[in-house]
Amino acid sequence: MKKVGILVGREVTFPESIINSINEKGNGEVVAEMVKVGGIRLDEEKKYDVIIDRISHEVPFYRATLKRMALEGTYIINNPFWWSADDKFFNFSLAAKIGVAIPKTVLLPQQDYIPDITSESLRNLEFPLDWEGIVEYVGFPAFLKPFDGGGWKNVSKIHSLEELWYKYNQSGKLCMTLQEGIEFDQFVRCYCVGQEKVLIMPYDPSKPYLSGMQYVNVDDYLSPELHARIEKDVKTICKALGYDLNTVEFAIKDGVPYAIDFMNPAPDAEIASVGEYNHNWIVNALTNFIFEKLEKGCSTPEYRWSALLSPPAQIAKKKTAKTTETTKPKTAKTKKTIKEKSQAKNAGAK
Ligand SMILES: Nc1ncnc2c1ncn2[C@@H]1O[C@H](COP(=O)(O)OP(=O)(O)OP(=O)(O)O)[C@@H](O)[C@H]1O
Ligand SMILES: [Mg+2]
Repeated sequence: MKKVGILVGREVTFPESIINSINEKGNGEVVAEMVKVGGIRLDEEKKYDVIIDRISHEVPFYRATLKRMALEGTYIINNPFWWSADDKFFNFSLAAKIGVAIPKTVLLPQQDYIPDITSESLRNLEFPLDWEGIVEYVGFPAFLKPFDGGGWKNVSKIHSLEELWYKYNQSGKLCMTLQEGIEFDQFVRCYCVGQEKVLIMPYDPSKPYLSGMQYVNVDDYLSPELHARIEKDVKTICKALGYDLNTVEFAIKDGVPYAIDFMNPAPDAEIASVGEYNHNWIVNALTNFIFEKLEKGCSTPEYRWSALLSPPAQIAKKKTAKTTETTKPKTAKTKKTIKEKSQAKNAGAK
């Protein structure tokens, strides 16, 4: 029997639906349940084949637990090591390099620091910052937003240098980015599962957050060309970042889809917020992805310690098996080629 665990925050309908969906399809051979953890022992045994992580970005204990579980071979959606390392500014820069349209963005030094960091500790920092140069590059309107955040927290639309300073002075220890504001004609959020399956959802950010009114139902919202480009961009981004579950947001202006937010590895999937159609889509897509992983075997990401954990004898054995496999067909092929050659020669002689 294979086991799938889910680690959740306050959400209700998504965990219920994904557990039911996996249990129905699993027919007793694959069982899904809520994860229960307390003190984690150093030599903790493997309990789950797959875990869907929805909350470790807010609970460091869960993040550390998941890394420990990965060491036993549990496949985690999404990879807790990469998620810990990732940030939105890196993502913007990477996506721009691989051909996705990204608004002009600048990473800003923090406004405040922990007490032990004094001006002597910050001698590498330019002071004062070239604010004029920064806003000249980014332009107005702009968005001041954390380099690692969610839930529209600490996101401000900025129209002037004075407004920028005012909001920046309130940002405290958060590391912020300043991004060109796209005065969009259209806006979409896209689910992506397994770096392959994409659902493009028309979205109206002017409606209240999590109100259920943001996800709008419009037939043929995008032209076929724009639809194809966005689908391609979503896959490119999710493949590059290695997320199995993610949401990518695009502000579309003059036919260009600008990706403005794509570090959402625990995307909202509650019925009340995303609607029944989108909810069902993500539940089905994730269920199918997990079964595919379980059937084909979850190849865990290659970690630096993988080789150290495999006993040397096993590695040597694997290598010998590989060498024999590769030499055999070669010999057979060489013999056949010689035989074929001599047959061809004889045929020609006749
Ligand atoms: N560059 C931009 N151009 C236009 N609008 C933007 C831009 N950046 C952010 N916004 C607006 O602000 C909203 C919140 O910004 P963003 O998505 O970056 O924050 P978030 O906290 O990650 O949100 P979420 O939790 O929805 O993913 C966006 O949905 C969009 O409406
Ligand atoms: Mg967003």
